[in-house]
Amino acid sequence: MTDLIKAGLEDVVISTSEICFIDGQQGRLLYRGYDIDDLVVHSTFEEVVYLLWYGALPTRKELDAHVKALAASRRLPARLIGILKNLPRKTVPMEVLRTGVSALSAFDPDERDNSREATLRKAIRLAAQMPTLVAAWERIRRGKEPVAPNPRLGLAANFLYMLSGRKPTELEAKTFDVALILHADHEYNASTFAARVTAATLSDLHSAVTSAIGALKGPLHGGANEQVMLMVDQIKEPARAETWIRKALADKARIMGFGHRVYRVEDPRAKHLRRLAAELGRQAGNTAYVGILDTVARVVTAEKHIYPNVDLYSGAAYAIMGIPADQFTPIFALSRIAGWAAHVLEQHAHNRLIRPRAEYTGPTQATYVPISQR
Ligand SMILES: CC(C)(COP(=O)(O)OP(=O)(O)OC[C@H]1O[C@@H](n2cnc3c(N)ncnc32)[C@H](O)[C@@H]1OP(=O)(O)O)[C@@H](O)C(=O)NCCC(=O)NCCS
Repeated sequence: MTDLIKAGLEDVVISTSEICFIDGQQGRLLYRGYDIDDLVVHSTFEEVVYLLWYGALPTRKELDAHVKALAASRRLPARLIGILKNLPRKTVPMEVLRTGVSALSAFDPDERDNSREATLRKAIRLAAQMPTLVAAWERIRRGKEPVAPNPRLGLAANFLYMLSGRKPTELEAKTFDVALILHADHEYNASTFAARVTAATLSDLHSAVTSAIGALKGPLHGGANEQVMLMVDQIKEPARAETWIRKALADKARIMGFGHRVYRVEDPRAKHLRRLAAELGRQAGNTAYVGILDTVARVVTAEKHIYPNVDLYSGAAYAIMGIPADQFTPIFALSRIAGWAAHVLEQHAHNRLIRPRAEYTGPTQATYVPISQR
């Protein structure tokens, strides 16, 4: 049996899926067959959500109805806001999101219904409510009242508005929308797998998403862009970047924002986030972050032949917009709910309980000794 063990399930294919395709050699990422390079130019996050859940691009009428349903579902139950207000102010945002999503199921009218139609209704509510939850916590922990959602704004713009109380610029809203599109799905990553394992017991969407949020919270999955910004803070200015990164490489440090289990070339999402972070930086008068990261990318790529991943420039874009670093992973979740829900629907449609085996290496002949004799 030992020969069959694949630590970390590396390269193990456990089922088929029609949702997301990653070509790690060519650096391509497709949602339902559509290249993300096209989607970031022509689509919106709301349309990508539709594409992932229903498997095809919507007509104008379908998209309008979908956008309207999402916008109409953003408010949180007052009692949920009460739960948030009762949490210690120091609670980290990912824990608040995990707790909030789990609690939302208690208020959901479809809580006991796991049909496809009910799961889609719950998915709409969760995708609409999660941004409100994340923004509300940011306000509450600063001692401010949450900002009510504005149904006239798109999902991305409305999130930025609820976070700061100020309507975002067009570039900020576009950047955030593109970031949401780029994080929407990524095949069987750890959090999606966690969601599918939970869904495969025929458990419900809120439980699957709560599992996924727990998996996303870990630093090996969702937390790398926060680490990138810690590096940027240490480097401080572009002129210091080359010396700093050469020393880090000489010290054999792991450089956050580089390398990937699947991509052997540059992550196709990185270039879009670089372009938008650079544009935002120019508009905000902050060119230092991208200047530092460009030097780091040039040196790491030349010296180690490992390439930027999605996390290299996303944190810089968020930081330029004034978003605190510990909100970067919750923001990832606001987007990935699209993929998690698509995978739960797919799992339920062709379900088989996910239950692997372990090779037992413990004792087999232990003799029970009564506690008085131990
Ligand atoms: C993402 C990641 C975990 C993938 O790791 P993996 O597929 O298990 O690859 P390995 O950790 O086995 O690395 C293979 C080689 O590349 C090197 N390497 C990979 N990523 C590296 C990085 N970010 N910095 C420095 N070296 C790195 C490893 O040291 C190793 O070198 P070696 O063969 O000389 O020992 C890894 O690249 C990493 O830790 N990156 C930084 C964290 C990050 O940005 N995560 C977000 C991913 S989207």
